[in-house]
Amino acid sequence: MGLIHETDYGTKPSASAKIVTLTIDGTKIEVAEGTSIMRAAMEAGIQVPKLCATDTLDAFGSCRLCLVEIQGRNGTPASCTTPVADGLVVSTQTPRLKQLRRGVMELYISDHPLDCLTCAANGDCELQDMAGAVGLREVRYGYEGENHLGLAKDESNPYFTFDSSKCIACSRCVRACEETQGTFALTIEGRGFGSRVSAGAGDTFLESDCVSCGACVQACPTATLTEKSVIEIGQPEHSVVTTCAYCGVGCSFKAEMRGQEVVRMVPYKDGKANRGHSCVKGRFAWGYATHKDRILNPMIRAKITDPWREVSWDEALAHAASEFKRIQSKYGRNAVGGITSSRCTNEETYLVQKLVRAGFGNNNVDTCARVCHSPTGYGLSTTYGTSAGTQDFDSVEHADVVVVIGANPTDGHPVFASRLKKRLRDGAKLIVIDPRRIDLVRTPHVEAAHHLPLRPGTNVAVLTALAHVIVAESLVNEAFVRANCDLAEFDRWAAFVAEERNSPEEVAKFAGVAAETIRAAARLYATGGNAAIYYGLGVTEHSQGSTAVMAIANLAMATGNIGRPGVGVNPLRGQNNVQGACDMGSFPHELSGYRHVSDDGARAMFETLWGVTLDKEPGLRIPNMLDAAVDGAFKGLYIQGEDILQSDPDTHHVAAGLAAMECVIVQDLFLNETANYAHIFLPGSTFLEKDGTFTNAERRIQRVRKVMAPRNGLGDWEVTLAFAKALGFAMDYAHPSQIMDEIAAVTPTFKGVSYAKLDELGSVQWPCNDKAPEGTPVMHVGGFVRGKGRFVITEYVATDERVGPRFPLLLTTGRILSQYNVGAQTRRTANVVWHEEDRLEINPHDAEVRGIRDGDWVAVRSRAGETALRALITDRVAAGVVYTTFHHPDTQANVVTTDYSDWATNCPEYKVTAVQCMPSNGPSDWQSRYRAHADRSRRIAKPAEVAE
Ligand code: SF4
Ligand code: SF4
Ligand code: SF4
Ligand code: FES
Repeated sequence: MGLIHETDYGTKPSASAKIVTLTIDGTKIEVAEGTSIMRAAMEAGIQVPKLCATDTLDAFGSCRLCLVEIQGRNGTPASCTTPVADGLVVSTQTPRLKQLRRGVMELYISDHPLDCLTCAANGDCELQDMAGAVGLREVRYGYEGENHLGLAKDESNPYFTFDSSKCIACSRCVRACEETQGTFALTIEGRGFGSRVSAGAGDTFLESDCVSCGACVQACPTATLTEKSVIEIGQPEHSVVTTCAYCGVGCSFKAEMRGQEVVRMVPYKDGKANRGHSCVKGRFAWGYATHKDRILNPMIRAKITDPWREVSWDEALAHAASEFKRIQSKYGRNAVGGITSSRCTNEETYLVQKLVRAGFGNNNVDTCARVCHSPTGYGLSTTYGTSAGTQDFDSVEHADVVVVIGANPTDGHPVFASRLKKRLRDGAKLIVIDPRRIDLVRTPHVEAAHHLPLRPGTNVAVLTALAHVIVAESLVNEAFVRANCDLAEFDRWAAFVAEERNSPEEVAKFAGVAAETIRAAARLYATGGNAAIYYGLGVTEHSQGSTAVMAIANLAMATGNIGRPGVGVNPLRGQNNVQGACDMGSFPHELSGYRHVSDDGARAMFETLWGVTLDKEPGLRIPNMLDAAVDGAFKGLYIQGEDILQSDPDTHHVAAGLAAMECVIVQDLFLNETANYAHIFLPGSTFLEKDGTFTNAERRIQRVRKVMAPRNGLGDWEVTLAFAKALGFAMDYAHPSQIMDEIAAVTPTFKGVSYAKLDELGSVQWPCNDKAPEGTPVMHVGGFVRGKGRFVITEYVATDERVGPRFPLLLTTGRILSQYNVGAQTRRTANVVWHEEDRLEINPHDAEVRGIRDGDWVAVRSRAGETALRALITDRVAAGVVYTTFHHPDTQANVVTTDYSDWATNCPEYKVTAVQCMPSNGPSDWQSRYRAHADRSRRIAKPAEVAE
């Protein structure tokens, strides 16, 4: 096992179908028209020296190292910028070329520190390689003249250094920042000899617009931009391909290792979701895996006010099993349940739901997807027949119009955002529907054609008003609708949306968006070519979340924007395996593959395989479990990889539910907030410590590969197996691949999935079965999965959460790039330099009338509770709207969110809470009390205390 070296062909491939023939160094070569001579040579195994070229960026032609001679042409053109042509006869190695190249290299080296032996990039430096490749043996110019050797290093970024003295001004970093990342943080300042890379006038990297994606570090051919981990640890010696465990983009990485230590994470060019790019979290924020806060031993305690006591795995699991058995015999079979994690693997979530259904004997299993994308499952299966997005990420490259609604991709799904921004720079039009002026509304070289800053809670009204325009102005794609949709339902829907009360003019009266803007956006969506909708939790986390998803589905059907690249309905899933957790049967009413538990045939198959009788009644959802606990009927909960105290709405109610239980088992990496109410703690393992698969937002199933032994001794899947065994329900798997084999055997959409296939193809998108053995990148091609597409009436019903004199502002919540969800991982990395605390964004007008200044502590009070955090005054939010992130437990943002939820799925209404804000002196009383409780609850007994 060594390092994986991906071939760098120097320039991008050509998409042309036309083949041309040329000769390079005497070899006849056939390549696609438009290919560069450099790439054609590389594809034939002939390496042309290069420095400024790399195949992830457009050719630039600045270093003059890749010169070639072409028969019949004068001069020595650069092979990276010269395209092939039929009949060309090219030489890459002639005495003249060798001499020219040595001269070029000599100039570079004469202004470069000669500290190769002690340089962190020694052995991984293209400059060093090229000096060898061109046969440079001496440098005739001394260091006495003007040079850059004394330039200071910029060490401001926590993850990489910038040593300008080693820079050869090849501009690969600048181009990576522009072309790959789309941030435009870097420039080349000065001219000629004075040219230097700069992160902005006088700025350090940390002060600049840089978002620390690392694309420039990866592109740099020298040690100028180097990961600090490489400087500290040294060059890696082997690599393992695995999948990021943060967001639903599902970036593929090479974990580059020295022994059991991660040296760096390098985005994998073959990764079909990310195509070699990443964000700051996946590339750099993996230090939590070895953070001192990791709990590595199982712990138990009798009461939540007791200190924890470390015990062996056997003791912890025997205790857990005996408690659950005791509870079930005393309170009944339905008094216990389990929560699967959208952060864990498919195999792990499948095991937990199996444990609940077959081991506990009830269907009380739910998942954190409940609180984010359950309306997506409901809405898309109702309208189209499948609980998932319709496209792959590549699809965006074919879009002409992109609607982003209730999502903030540059923060939440950064690698997808980079791909989207590239398409927008290349000419696609953008419509943003969001209460906040998110970055995409205006970012370098991208400007939304329309921004609809709707009032939180009015999604359904605005989406229906868009449909009104499409129907009223005869913009419906009738041929598509006639061929693919249920016509009677379409007619009913068309009559409904055409009603005057659904017109932009009527909706504008309460939605905060001008009627003309709604009309213009609808026209653009319906007539602008391939139109794709991307949406996030700003759509689903509402009392009408499922209705809004169906309103989006209606729009795509009415305009025929389904079933081909460039279009579709695309949920941007929050966590790495939200899609997978849902697919695996984590909801109380569904077995894997979304078969209802009342489906006798499906149940019978599982009963035969598992050797048990299954309950045909759906079990409890998370909120119902908590309600039942408060009522005294629900007593035991096994929570794998989730922090419901922090992530679920109405924290007081969650705390009351947990406190009413007799045995709460938390399995996690850290003593999270929920563990403050737990009686048994089972240490979890990170994605680096286990084998499995994740399924990303495109339905793409990708391998997670173990790169180090579990620090706690067991992978999460092994812990669930051991718990099941202790309960007397043995599950027998020697490796996660065997769990996947079972999943494939019982889940029609996974029928063709196996680890062997994933190893061979890299990844597959379900459905993967006999009809689509290599998976399905785009769904509903040639017809909907459910048969005829179904238009659903989307009557707007205002949420019960209304503003009024007591609570005049609407609070909405979201994420920031550097932090992830409840922050348990990212807060334990250097990412805190970008986001040390959650802030309350408030419009200057609302701040002024309340006497709130930037940075002041502000009390935020709702019907549910009160918290306090510091203010950030900004016109990103409109007057009447305030916004915060929820990454820090000290903030307790969910203390104020209410228990209103989506009518169909119970997904909480996080995005709309009526609040009042006023200056305060610091954290609220409740926050202080909670902190004291948490500190007490986290105590781990010293051995002496245990002995007593
Ligand atoms: S880390 Fe990313 S955003 Fe920052 S300068 Fe490099 S490419 Fe640009
Ligand atoms: S920092 Fe690296 S990539 Fe950027 S110009 Fe200098 S040598 Fe090239
Ligand atoms: S957090 Fe998301 S975008 Fe960032 S590297 Fe991981 S999967 Fe990719
Ligand atoms: S690699 Fe072609 S000019 Fe630099």
